[in-house]
Amino acid sequence: MSMHYDYTYEAVLAASEKVSWRVEDIIGGEKRLDFTKPFLPEALAQVGPLTFLSDDERLVVNHIRGHNYLYLFGLVEEFILPFVLDYARPHLAEGGCRARAYLKFAREEAKHIHLFKRFRQEFEDGFGAPCKVIGSPTEIASRVLAHHPLAVALAILHIGWMTQRHYVDSVRDNQRLDAQFSSLLKHHWLEEAQHSKLDMLMIESLASACDETQIERAIEEYILIVSLLCEGLRQQTFLDLETFRDVTGRQLDDAETSAYIAIQSQAKRWTFLGSGMTHKNFLSTVGSLRPEARKRIEQVSPKFC
Ligand SMILES: [Fe+2]
Ligand SMILES: [Fe+2]
Repeated sequence: MSMHYDYTYEAVLAASEKVSWRVEDIIGGEKRLDFTKPFLPEALAQVGPLTFLSDDERLVVNHIRGHNYLYLFGLVEEFILPFVLDYARPHLAEGGCRARAYLKFAREEAKHIHLFKRFRQEFEDGFGAPCKVIGSPTEIASRVLAHHPLAVALAILHIGWMTQRHYVDSVRDNQRLDAQFSSLLKHHWLEEAQHSKLDMLMIESLASACDETQIERAIEEYILIVSLLCEGLRQQTFLDLETFRDVTGRQLDDAETSAYIAIQSQAKRWTFLGSGMTHKNFLSTVGSLRPEARKRIEQVSPKFC
């Protein structure tokens, strides 16, 4: 094991206490979603390649993708919250910074779940039609949590780095995104930066209790978690297309339907899977567990990009 971090629980806790925002500061009241603007950066939405659609129709696809961003993030955070609480529990009696840092982490994820929910309410008020979504977050969470804790911790680290990449993409795109959506990406990223550090410490500690075989197994189980999410994303793309038809009344022919499914499934894979799995910081943590594990992830990641 050769992981060395130049930060402590104390420093992470101090940094996280400096970043404090409330859901009400970000959405609600005067802060409404502006449906004349895109919600997701094009690097994630990939509506440009849907050349058979009009500009207005492409904007509707961007908004539908914005809605499933809110829904799917709410969904993954539903397994992060209980996992982090369970991880904190044995450390409660220590009474130090470690337990407090993980409790703050869990509290922030509960706030993020609330944030995504509030945005979805605002979305539904403005969009004028219900968006179809895959079911049930609780069931998916329990399937994820059935895996080895190290596998779940790796999935959580993946999600933290991926959130960072989403914010960077939205800034880089600079395409006048809706102000509230940009603010959501930014504020989420501000807290996830601390989570990634705690995720790495959690992985270090979980891995130190594992032998080589258990680490190898945990890597394979992490890949199973990613595959489970990948299948969910594919189903969500078909549902998005139904929502698109309901809202616009536009019927797509067979070739357009296949193009929509292919382009949008790929865009979702990149948003939620590839961007985390290929993040250099994620790969370097995996490589510190086992150099072979990094090779294994690099070998399967193209399927998820
Ligand atoms: Fe979060
Ligand atoms: Fe997080």
